[in-house]
Amino acid sequence: MSNWTKIAPLSEFPQLGARVVRHNGTEIAVFRNAGDGVFAMNDKCPHKGGPLSQGIVSGNTVTCPLHGMNICFETGEAVAPDEGCVGTYPAKVEDGIVLLDL
Ligand code: FES
Repeated sequence: MSNWTKIAPLSEFPQLGARVVRHNGTEIAVFRNAGDGVFAMNDKCPHKGGPLSQGIVSGNTVTCPLHGMNICFETGEAVAPDEGCVGTYPAKVEDGIVLLDL
């Protein structure tokens, strides 16, 4: 069952950046890419827990600020040759508002 939850207006999310949303004690990084796509994943790199929200957004990946692993927004998986996976959440924009399925 989906549980779409209104988070904030898209304008409050930096383009090519992220904003951290707290939900039940978990920090979720919500990214906005150049095409105004929004993507959400746990703010914890699968490598050593780096803050992905502070990484560089490029296309559909974010580069971890600590050791440079690239994480795919859609799958949460590290781009080969790196390995690892972080939990993702469905995200969308409706009427200018960002919603997450939590
Ligand atoms: S903690 Fe993210 S690449 Fe090492």
